[in-house]
Amino acid sequence: MKRTPPAPLSVWRTLNLDDFLLGVPHYPEHVDESYWLRDAQRMAAAGFNVVRLGEFAWHLIEPQEGHFDFSLFDRAIDVLACEGIKTIFCTPTATPPRWLTSTYPEVLRTDEWGRTASHGSRQHADTNSPVYRIHSRRITEALARHYAGNPNVIGWQTDNELNTTVSTSYAEATEREFRRYLRDRYETIAALNFAWGGNFWALAYDNFDQIAVPRKDNPGFPAPGHLQDYHRFLAHATAVFQHDQVEILRRANSDWFIFHNLGRLEDIDFRGQFGQDLDFLGFDVYPMLYDEMRRSGGHPATQALHLDICRAYSGNFIVPEQASGFGSQPGFSTMTPEPGEMRRMALSSVARGADGLLFFRWRPAHFGAEIYWMGIIDHDDVPRRRYQEAVQFAGDISKIKPHLLGTTVRMDVAIAGADFDNQEAYKTYPMGMPSPLEDGLLLHRYCYSRGIACGFIHPEDDLSRIKILYVPHWVIWRPEWNENVEAFVKDGGTLIVGAMTGTRDENNHIPTELAPRAGLSRLCGVRVEEFGRLAEPGADGLFGLHGTEYGLHNPAKRLPASSATRRYSFSLGNQEYDAAHLYELLRLDDDVKVIGRWTNRFASGRPMVTVRRFGNGRAVYVGTYLTEPLVEALATQLFAESNVQPLLQDLPPNVEVTMREADDRKLLFVLNCDAEATEIKTPPQGIDLITGRRVEEKLTLGPHECAVIQF
Ligand code: GAL
Repeated sequence: MKRTPPAPLSVWRTLNLDDFLLGVPHYPEHVDESYWLRDAQRMAAAGFNVVRLGEFAWHLIEPQEGHFDFSLFDRAIDVLACEGIKTIFCTPTATPPRWLTSTYPEVLRTDEWGRTASHGSRQHADTNSPVYRIHSRRITEALARHYAGNPNVIGWQTDNELNTTVSTSYAEATEREFRRYLRDRYETIAALNFAWGGNFWALAYDNFDQIAVPRKDNPGFPAPGHLQDYHRFLAHATAVFQHDQVEILRRANSDWFIFHNLGRLEDIDFRGQFGQDLDFLGFDVYPMLYDEMRRSGGHPATQALHLDICRAYSGNFIVPEQASGFGSQPGFSTMTPEPGEMRRMALSSVARGADGLLFFRWRPAHFGAEIYWMGIIDHDDVPRRRYQEAVQFAGDISKIKPHLLGTTVRMDVAIAGADFDNQEAYKTYPMGMPSPLEDGLLLHRYCYSRGIACGFIHPEDDLSRIKILYVPHWVIWRPEWNENVEAFVKDGGTLIVGAMTGTRDENNHIPTELAPRAGLSRLCGVRVEEFGRLAEPGADGLFGLHGTEYGLHNPAKRLPASSATRRYSFSLGNQEYDAAHLYELLRLDDDVKVIGRWTNRFASGRPMVTVRRFGNGRAVYVGTYLTEPLVEALATQLFAESNVQPLLQDLPPNVEVTMREADDRKLLFVLNCDAEATEIKTPPQGIDLITGRRVEEKLTLGPHECAVIQF
């Protein structure tokens, strides 16, 4: 597996490996050694080429401080290698052994109520702790040195889903590190006081040692700048923790590829040092975990959303863990992929940019807190339908692979994403409003269900391949993004700027100029003179339904619409709609055209959606937040002129479609996400790489069946 140096981060980046990684996370330490050879033979027979090992095995590798024993994994790696299966090893820092937490209890995480994590589950160690960093470096050094010359170890995963159980820390050591970070960032306390607005509520500090980590509701709301810097610090500390490991691994063997498997994207700035250090990103795919969440839209749409978000950070990625069956921990369980669905879910990941995929896990554990998290084979060691589907997927990959590698995922409509500062700025001051992601996902859902190529992109990225860029109320808009975005519009692109965009600077201060700030006003020809809250249709205006940061994300708080709830409406394209969440009143430059207006109460007649032509393109401003009907209205107004068409006409319900493309080829993935057969009336004429048959008139897909049409 050849690795070349990674290209700079971009949604258009392809993987820097010359083969598709295919296999499973595997836990040889969970079974008797007599299983190992049969396991390896079955993996090879399935068509796998790799396993991931060791992420929770520190206690076996270093049973006592300074005493290392690699023998179990050495033997396991050898047995696997004899069957042609290579190993990705992991730094095992998600689960420090008991001797470590007993001898160095200060490495345990402290929560915001001052409780120290107990030893008994995982991710109990604090990656912000300088003492824990020493041990993380020690175990990484030992592993790196031991495996540097082993040709069967081809790459590394750092830790396991950093920050997924918890990302915050309130330990004394964290507080000290936080102060150190602030000292480096601001140099003088006067600069920090300015940034955090020290003259508001007498929050000015005399020196850095007085600063505490912010605590929610203790008793009131902390200053936005304080909170934002705490999360910037957590992301910095996570990156530094990982950087230690990356440095050691790269020094030991520069041929190794290194990635991290992301779970929840909490306090990780992937476009910063964290992502720049890695060869590529890994994203663990468990869409059924979200099935019961409000607005999830079903697990196929959730999987598509998560992978599109993830791709915005770094382009093509691998899936180090792809859900294969029923999943549970003691407190919850997920729905079960139906026959055929595990393979379809894996192909959906490939369709959205996965150039490697490992099914979680080889076999389920017989003990511990995930005994019912099913694997590819069952507890009785019998391979059944999930194994057969893995075999089928491996066959699919061997047919697709020669055409797939080197392609990127097409995106006609892009939503601004992958910006850590905006994600956090929202959380410092959510006001019960939808987050940028909650807003943007309405557009994503619209495109997903109609087969329009849609995804996320950072405004600094190469925008030349997209047709529409929607910015969902990013409160921080940086002047350095303007040139790229202006060039995109000038070259014919359509920029759509949502309300509240560019209302703050990087300190979360409201500037003295009217929003949208930093050049966007000029580009859109719009200034926001007034804004105010609107209730979500059917809800009372008093309680926000959004905003996880202050416990507001609680549907139980939803109140019935009272008679006092005011309805605000607007018109767009000869139709009238209810508005939600926010209104803005706009002042326009002379060259701006109004295409949507407020239609009732005091705002009646004022512009709501505007268009300014610029070069060959246009800058559209939308003075409210999205709702489903508004997305539909905007699409009707704007998509055709931007030449945005579905990838397939007449897409039947529950069929997913994406395109992976390179200069010389297009691969259209058509995936039936349902248990009913379906028919595609006007498929492109080409070869279905999966069946090897030419597709001409219509395409019939059985339950959970997939086609990959090359043309
Ligand atoms: C992932 C985690 C795995 C396993 C899996 C199923 O988030 O990385 O270790 O716990 O979920 O729960």
